[in-house]
Amino acid sequence: MSKIAVICAMDKEIIYIKEHFGAKLVDEKCSIYSAVFDGHEIIATVCGIGKVNSALSTQRIIDRFSPDYVINVGIAGGLDRELSVLDMVVARDTMYHDFHPLSLLEEDKNIGTSVFECDKTLVALAEKVCESLVEKGKVRKFVTGRIVSGDSFVEDDEKSRELREDLHGSCVEMEGASISQTCIVNGIPFLVIRSISDFADNNAGMSYDSFSTKASEQAGQVVAEIIKGL
Ligand code: ADE
Repeated sequence: MSKIAVICAMDKEIIYIKEHFGAKLVDEKCSIYSAVFDGHEIIATVCGIGKVNSALSTQRIIDRFSPDYVINVGIAGGLDRELSVLDMVVARDTMYHDFHPLSLLEEDKNIGTSVFECDKTLVALAEKVCESLVEKGKVRKFVTGRIVSGDSFVEDDEKSRELREDLHGSCVEMEGASISQTCIVNGIPFLVIRSISDFADNNAGMSYDSFSTKASEQAGQVVAEIIKGL
């Protein structure tokens, strides 16, 4: 039995996990839920939006529960031109798009890098699960690539082009890199996986309103399959 922390930024992103896993609220103030799913102990939490909220929550979960793995799941704005809404992105690595200059992180003794590599075994498992869901017609497409994070909802054609072309991001969100950094500092294997709700362009707000609930559910379903494979 492994202990797995599942971290979501928003209530809508945890709904599927809560319902499907039969999770019980164990700490209302910190939005922490607990469940046993497929023989694994699951600690699920709503960390709140952004880098600080997500880092604080991840450290709290690590200190209190000592998870074997951390999985950050939710929705994101697609940057890769091949992606459509509800497609999946498995992070090979994550990085900040609003930390300048990145060399300060590279020189930091505690972290030493500006690119946070996800656990290779978890990435391989997530890819296998996504491939199988594509074959079954439950997911249209997935890519493995870079997830870029920052403290802003990106809804700008020029900014999304820059994140795609200059940082090679496959999608953008607001927590994956800070959760990654916290896991690296604590030596915990982690995975970041997202479903696309919009394209971080001038129409992102409208697309988000239409697809964020469905994309959140899709991401939860994929994580349930990943946990079954652990
Ligand atoms: N999460 C979902 N869509 C996003 C966007 N466009 N920017 C940042 N985070 C997001």
